[in-house]
Amino acid sequence: MKALQSKKELRETLHGLRAQFERKGNPNSAAVGLVPTMGFLHEGHLELIRRCKEECAITVVSIFVNPTQFNDPSDYENYPVDLKRDLDLLEKEGVDIAFLPNAVEMYPENQISVQMSLPELTSNLCGAHRRGHFDGVLLVVAKFFNIVDPDRAYFGLKDYQQFLVIRTMARSLDLSVQVIGCETVREEDGLAMSSRNARLSEKAREHAALIPRALNLVQKTLNDRKGRYSVACDELCEIASDVIESGTLNQVEYMEIVDPDSLKKLDEIQTDRTARIATAVFCDGVRLIDNRPLHF
Ligand code: PAF
Repeated sequence: MKALQSKKELRETLHGLRAQFERKGNPNSAAVGLVPTMGFLHEGHLELIRRCKEECAITVVSIFVNPTQFNDPSDYENYPVDLKRDLDLLEKEGVDIAFLPNAVEMYPENQISVQMSLPELTSNLCGAHRRGHFDGVLLVVAKFFNIVDPDRAYFGLKDYQQFLVIRTMARSLDLSVQVIGCETVREEDGLAMSSRNARLSEKAREHAALIPRALNLVQKTLNDRKGRYSVACDELCEIASDVIESGTLNQVEYMEIVDPDSLKKLDEIQTDRTARIATAVFCDGVRLIDNRPLHF
């Protein structure tokens, strides 16, 4: 595995690897896959990497804790980092290139920055609570897409809004990259894997397990109401929030049921409609997110 810090080295190395495939006479199979991460890798990231390796000839993983997507400076400062462990994991997974730029490499001091935003998809859910967060995500991911020029890029559906925002950006800019969403990987008790889980105390970790339980209870409630024409979303959100806040360390930041494509808030779920329930919860001060599809 090559661990590279500069955009120039990365472009040159990728150029060389692509040329090797072309010399072997099979240019179409030289697909490049990108898994962008902020490091402190867990099984969720490793699943993205495995899927990327299955589908692409060359796998690039970026590790960059992107300052422009943190609206809370203390969240940025406390973001867990363990580069040595991450690199060992990437090596074991057989990754071809680890791209490890620093902030100056990504945002050179003399460079005037473009502003990116997608208000239609970011006015609710995390977008409403983390002002500017998705502008920062869009900017850094657009830069990665330009630097790596991947054929495919892989994102976890735990950040469902992020996945939709990035896929929409890629389509809207006519980028040729295929943006692929991969199922959330969960702990045995259902808690979605996240680098932030490492910051939970033992007690908080127990309370965090109420998050997936609450979202699953909403689907169960819908199953129990089969035969009705519709169910009010406010009622379902209240059920889920109450379960989560029965854990005294938990505080729900938002709980919303939205259309899975437009992310517009739904007032009710009707028969044969799909929807998505999404939440953000402060668990003893650590902000965790989760979501799941709903069927009625
Ligand atoms: O999901 C993340 O880890 C980050 O938001 C991403 C996509 C790597 C951009 O910094």
